[in-house]
Amino acid sequence: MNSSVTVIDHPLIQHKLTLMRRTSASSSTFRSLLKEISHLMAYEITRDLPIEHTQIETPLTKMQAPMLAGKKLCLVSILRAGNGLLEGILELIPSARVGHIGLYRDPETLEAVEYYYKMPSDLDQRLVITVDPMLATANSSIAAITRLKEGGARNIRFLCLLAAPEGIEAFHAAHPEVPVYTAAIDDHLNEHKYIVPGLGDAGDRIYGTR
Ligand code: PRP
Ligand code: URA
Repeated sequence: MNSSVTVIDHPLIQHKLTLMRRTSASSSTFRSLLKEISHLMAYEITRDLPIEHTQIETPLTKMQAPMLAGKKLCLVSILRAGNGLLEGILELIPSARVGHIGLYRDPETLEAVEYYYKMPSDLDQRLVITVDPMLATANSSIAAITRLKEGGARNIRFLCLLAAPEGIEAFHAAHPEVPVYTAAIDDHLNEHKYIVPGLGDAGDRIYGTR
């Protein structure tokens, strides 16, 4: 089975993404826009969540009312930049469990190096939404999802802001059953494997570290 890629091309997301790409956007503006976009993307990535009906009482009457069904879902942030997407999604789904996986891209080899891993229990029974703004070579997202599968996760989705065509191809090859959601697929990777036109280093832009 080949994984699907959904480009969430809502005009509000596209507009806000353009504001984020600009070199002139400050870290604070960048973070705010990322949070706003994460709200909008969360809406799309959760649109098919299962619903069950439960009896409640309104001030007027009893009714069978819809609520999310099943075990609480798990959001997984790929540190550091994933936290920029996580925050907004957690605001919409405050009861979600949260896992963190710390990975950085070795600047020489471009391989993902893991430095932290902490997940909630029962990953095998939860929908696991993994978030990282950037899918460039896909080394980081592939490594994160491999690790989640080793930890028992079976039902995984990957949400990013920007993806490169090369990364999507590599991701498909490694994890064909994992759906990818992104706000845009950019043109290519440069010689340093940065996404072009892209927005630069997402972690640095979120946290002002460069
Ligand atoms: C960035 C980004 C992804 C990764 C994408 O993280 O947040 O995790 O690069 O690149 P890839 O698809 O080629 O692996 P980075 O390694 O800069 O770490 P940071 O989030 O701590 O800044
Ligand atoms: N990581 C980033 O933060 N940006 C890129 O363009 C590629 C990898």
